[in-house]
Amino acid sequence: MKAISDILPHIAYGGDYNPEQWNEKVWYEDAALMQKAGVNLVSVGIFSWAVLEREEDRFDFTWLDKVMNILHEHGVGVCLATATASPPAWLSRKYPETLAVDDKGVPYSFGSRQHYSPNSSIYRRAVKKLVTKLAERYKDHPALKMWHINNEYGCHVSECYSQDSLEAFHAWLRRRYQTIDTLNEKWGTNFWSQRYNYFDDITFLSNTPTFPNPGQQLDYKRFMNDSLLELYMVEKKILRDITPDVPVFTNFMFEFKPLNYFSWAPELDVVTWDTYPDPREGTPEAHALQHDLMRSLKHGQPFLVMEQVTSHVNWRDINVPKKPGEMRLWSYSAIARGSDGIMFFQWRQSRAGAEKFHGAMVPHSGDEQSRTYREVQQLGQELKQLDSLTGAVVPARAAIIFDWENWWAVEMEGKPHNKLSYLEQVKAYYHTFYRRNIAVDFVQPGGDLSSYDLVAAPMLYMVKNGEKKNLEQFVENGGTLVVSFFSGIVDENDRIHPDYYPEPLRHILGIHVEEFVPMAGGEWNQLSAGTDHYRCTTWSDVIHLETAEAAAYFTEDWYQGRPAVTTNSYGKGKAVYVGTEPEQAFIDDILTGLMREKGITAPASAPPNVEIVERTSGKGNHLVIVNHNQEEARIELDSGRSYVDLLAGTKVENEVIVQAVDVLVLRQTEQK
Ligand code: GLA
Repeated sequence: MKAISDILPHIAYGGDYNPEQWNEKVWYEDAALMQKAGVNLVSVGIFSWAVLEREEDRFDFTWLDKVMNILHEHGVGVCLATATASPPAWLSRKYPETLAVDDKGVPYSFGSRQHYSPNSSIYRRAVKKLVTKLAERYKDHPALKMWHINNEYGCHVSECYSQDSLEAFHAWLRRRYQTIDTLNEKWGTNFWSQRYNYFDDITFLSNTPTFPNPGQQLDYKRFMNDSLLELYMVEKKILRDITPDVPVFTNFMFEFKPLNYFSWAPELDVVTWDTYPDPREGTPEAHALQHDLMRSLKHGQPFLVMEQVTSHVNWRDINVPKKPGEMRLWSYSAIARGSDGIMFFQWRQSRAGAEKFHGAMVPHSGDEQSRTYREVQQLGQELKQLDSLTGAVVPARAAIIFDWENWWAVEMEGKPHNKLSYLEQVKAYYHTFYRRNIAVDFVQPGGDLSSYDLVAAPMLYMVKNGEKKNLEQFVENGGTLVVSFFSGIVDENDRIHPDYYPEPLRHILGIHVEEFVPMAGGEWNQLSAGTDHYRCTTWSDVIHLETAEAAAYFTEDWYQGRPAVTTNSYGKGKAVYVGTEPEQAFIDDILTGLMREKGITAPASAPPNVEIVERTSGKGNHLVIVNHNQEEARIELDSGRSYVDLLAGTKVENEVIVQAVDVLVLRQTEQK
């Protein structure tokens, strides 16, 4: 298969297009407006099952044929959707067992969307038939660029408690454990008399009187992730067989807890995701983290923003529009961090239905002079000048360990502290990198760390088979690893690693932890590091030094004077342990010190709230600069380099001004 940047040689620009909501006359108007706006790609048919298969086996593709042809005539490529995200009424009526069931045992009703059970064999059979028909019909259509499989898996229904799902869970457990004795051992079922004699004895944990078995909870989450992924694979296989050269993907959603996107990414030809930051409360930093995570899922390969909104959504309590310029600015943040596409939900604002007040590229009025359409048109024209960016990667020497299974496990109940948020811990470490414009990837604990010099592992509670060795090797080979509290505690089944905490990390960290002292909200302790003092909250570890040295001490409570932060030399590298949740200034200080040691620097120096990201490929080195401030910002560039400003066409050296709420895309021209 060709590289995505060969299939989409321009920054992809467009959105979800739902022509079945309009008549043929509007289709022509749409295509003309798309052309004017620089649209080159649309996703068609995401919710079209009911108009593609009107009754079981009664297919009608005539309207879609026309739409595909019109789009092609206007130079617009198509991500053709497989239309399986919202099964039609006839399927739910005729086969009620295709409906997903909630944790109270109640089937979801027809009348919104995503009401299918991922484990229903009848739903899967119907999916196969529809996808085969679509692929056969459009396999040679010149407009077909990519396949958009289903839509946002798990968004509304990420757990299913149907009979089909229970049987599939039993089969999944049999595959994983082979024997019931192994399962009993892994789940620790001798606790509270939970021992099973047969796989078929296992029920769902939907209504237990108190804390359910942790190993079982964790496996249910894995099973649901795998069920949805398997469903995706059913479609992918058909599409690969019939159209081996057409890339396939589904659209992800941010850091969505129920789905382990690292396990999905290898099955997508390109990662795509839907981004909806709240214009009232969302921050560029939170948004940037999500883009960095999406880029990391396929190890740095550029991703596509498959949906965002031009102005406002309609599903928050209060839905304010993005301010003038904000949509453009946030689009460039995505491009800076590795996106090769800016797509929207949706092309034309719907007249009817649950999302009629959701923004779109063309508003209800259809007015070409509307602010929305003008901004859409401006951005579309600008992006045409950025072809050299496509395929470019974001080189990063720092990484943050991120693991979905750890996230699931550490936030299950029954812990020393039951208000821990994994994401909050990750965000605290991300903050330091973001604020300093240091490119950072996310990587799994067992992932390839060889290209990084500095890796932070916040709250890595679960350390699975092989991960210990991976982390040890990273440090042995000269890497710097920073690990924070409540790490290295359990195995993949949420069973404690025997021996001292944190057993799998004990040798690299050169410490052991004897006790945990969680703190309630409002309580705090203090760290003393040389002459500096920092507040810390949430958690204190009672640490014993083995080969490590103390870098900071607790100053209060019965464990005062004991180490709180430690440093250990290991092989050619170094491992730092932070046995508490320090105030941000401490994390900043410690990480910036470590970056200094490693010579990790930002691509240029800039005032706060200006993002600068380097993207590089055989087509050139680029700096994408996004100024979120309400005033202009002065950027000092590397004096050894000259650039061309791709949007203005001018030459730039030494320093450059980026206007308030504005962007610059610079391409390096020569080395002086
Ligand atoms: C999601 C869905 C779209 C639409 C938008 C609205 O991203 O994929 O179909 O519902 O939300 O924000």
